[in-house]
Amino acid sequence: MKRFAVFVSGNGSNLQALIDETKAGGIKAELALVFSNRRKAYGLKRAEEAGIKTLVLEPRHYATPQSFDREIAMYLKKDKIDFIVLAGYMKILTPWFVKQYPKKIINVHPSLLPAFKGAKAIKDQFTYGVKVAGVTIHIVNDKMDAGPIIMQESFKVSEKETLESLEERIHAVEHKLFPKCVSLFVDGKLKIGARKVQIADRK
Ligand code: GAR
Repeated sequence: MKRFAVFVSGNGSNLQALIDETKAGGIKAELALVFSNRRKAYGLKRAEEAGIKTLVLEPRHYATPQSFDREIAMYLKKDKIDFIVLAGYMKILTPWFVKQYPKKIINVHPSLLPAFKGAKAIKDQFTYGVKVAGVTIHIVNDKMDAGPIIMQESFKVSEKETLESLEERIHAVEHKLFPKCVSLFVDGKLKIGARKVQIADRK
């Protein structure tokens, strides 16, 4: 069975969705490690409650992003991690790190990429006044929020939408779409090109 690590920086509601789906047998891989760059990330508690090993490394203890990422990679290698899932990991991976796991890092982003890249996508969409919002699940490459897209889902933003309700709706879509994509990845159903991802046997 393949072993994967989930990277979190905050609440970890997407991590929870992945834990639940893995436990239910929908993701046929072992969630072997939860890594965080923030000691206070609530996602770490979720991992502990689920009996999953955790690792925390804080960037402030490292001279450069490169040395930080090298240390993470060393731990992942030791733990025989096959692929990585970024679930609200709010730090950009160095190109060196991405090269260690080519086409083996999956990310969830709370907008319809390539619109609203970056760390505040939900707020940015709300402030911009979009009529359609959504979620993107993609493979990570060496450019931020720019890798080949696995799935996207959109919905109409109502006139009564608040930032809070938009946030809630985006998270609900993420929690449905993200585990589905990870499962397809694990089952070898994704043909990942430089720009496009083909999904085999899509039901
Ligand atoms: C999610 O909405 C995820 O899409 C977003 O952070 C949130 C984490 O929530 N990620 C990014 O913005 C990446 N650029 P969670 O900790 O509850 O899963």
